[in-house]
Amino acid sequence: MKNKKQVGHIISFFAGVAKLKGLPNVFINETLLDKDNKEVAIVIGFDLDHVEALFFQNNFDLNEPVYRSNKTFSIQISENVTGRIINGLGKPIDNLGNIESDNYPVFTNSPTIIDRESINQPLSTGIKILDTTLPLGKGQRQLIIGDRKLGKTTIATDIVLNQKNATPLVQCVYVICGQKEKKLKDLISLFEKNNAFLYTTIVTATSNATFAEQYLAPFVGCTIAEYFRNKNQDALVVYDDLSSHAKTYRNFALLLERSPGRESYPGDVFSIYAGLLERSAKIANGGSLSALPIIETQESDITSFIPTNLISITDGQIYLEQGLFQKGFLPAVNVGLSVSRVGSSAQPKILKNIVGGIRLALSQHKELQKLSQLETVLSNQAKKKIHRGEMILELLKQPKHVNISWPEQVVLFYVVEEGFFDQIASNQWSEFENSLLKLVKNKYPNILEQIKNNKFDDSVKTSIKQMIKDFQNEFIIKLDMQ
Ligand SMILES: Nc1ncnc2c1ncn2[C@@H]1O[C@H](COP(=O)(O)OP(=O)(O)O)[C@@H](O)[C@H]1O
Ligand SMILES: [Mg+2]
Repeated sequence: MKNKKQVGHIISFFAGVAKLKGLPNVFINETLLDKDNKEVAIVIGFDLDHVEALFFQNNFDLNEPVYRSNKTFSIQISENVTGRIINGLGKPIDNLGNIESDNYPVFTNSPTIIDRESINQPLSTGIKILDTTLPLGKGQRQLIIGDRKLGKTTIATDIVLNQKNATPLVQCVYVICGQKEKKLKDLISLFEKNNAFLYTTIVTATSNATFAEQYLAPFVGCTIAEYFRNKNQDALVVYDDLSSHAKTYRNFALLLERSPGRESYPGDVFSIYAGLLERSAKIANGGSLSALPIIETQESDITSFIPTNLISITDGQIYLEQGLFQKGFLPAVNVGLSVSRVGSSAQPKILKNIVGGIRLALSQHKELQKLSQLETVLSNQAKKKIHRGEMILELLKQPKHVNISWPEQVVLFYVVEEGFFDQIASNQWSEFENSLLKLVKNKYPNILEQIKNNKFDDSVKTSIKQMIKDFQNEFIIKLDMQ
């Protein structure tokens, strides 16, 4: 028997965004039911005389009453979510059947300080410029930020693809919000081609999904990733992208006539993302949840409202730059404007020792290059530094969807340090690199295995030197013959 007082009637409704009267005791995030006890909406706010709700369908009959459920919005999660495609309401849309399981509330509190420990394990990205100069750790929140079409999605997907080699497993959740349908299709085929569905779930609310779905998708994705975190596993969630999400949020807030703040965003937009991202954590002696929120800027303006908000609630940012992209420097990461505040304490020691000088070499290179435009005569030492800087820049380029493991990066940059690239002409650097990485992967996997097990003593170094000497001669002879 439904309590009469608990009935709600729609007083305004547009595109699923509704104001209702009645329902005096509802709580925030509570679901509302139709007469058949089906969940039809979520409460997102209230005023003295009305309740605000997002309906799950845009064509709800406005004359129908709705009822309280007394339940907070929850979704079903089990191990079986891996490999599935889920909508913004947490329901599978891939025709592979229901996910039979328990209910998990989607809006939960983040772990307390006491639950957490500091970041202490690397999250390998397989992207050289990140693993060497902007290393990530498990539990970190790292923002990927830049104008459209500079490779933000590519970086996020490639980090997911790299987890196929991760031991222990890193469970991934890729949330698409506010993107075109085509992006979802591209993502599915990329993940299929690379077997990423073995450890990944997609949560999708494309730009034609309802407001409710688009609003809820990041929280649904986070809740799925959190499920694995709470089982002492490692999880990674991508939010692609939160600037579209913020716009959706602004749109329905304006429809509800909430008072607009800076850039017309409602005042609570900051706390929404703070709450979402605080759920990332490295749990003491337990699992971890890392997060990669993506923000698209307009004309590289990182000082507008949403970018500054997100920068302040993440542990660093990967900043992509148009100029670098146009010059063909891909991934177009501006190392100077990017930071990783917590990851370096988790960077594998061997890699840290080998690449420690890269950031410095790059900044020196920039300065010296400026100087070389002023002065005609440069000391030999300065010339050498410019040369080395150019080499490192060239070697930090990386095509998309090609993961390079951190032990491979150790070999590569050790070989650079030992001067083996110095005899190679600059236009052959990248070919030399490719052949070298192929060689060590195919013929000397034991070198990589030893590095992976944190062994980098003289015997490993000698094997690398021996391998590279033979190979270098072959390479140079081959070049001479061409
Ligand atoms: N490292 C890379 N190598 C080659 N092409 C890349 C690389 N990174 C990005 N691209 C290309 O740049 C374009 C934009 O990338 P995308 O990730 O979709 O950008 P965004 O998400 O910033 O809009 C795509 O065509 C993509 O294939
Ligand atoms: Mg994108």
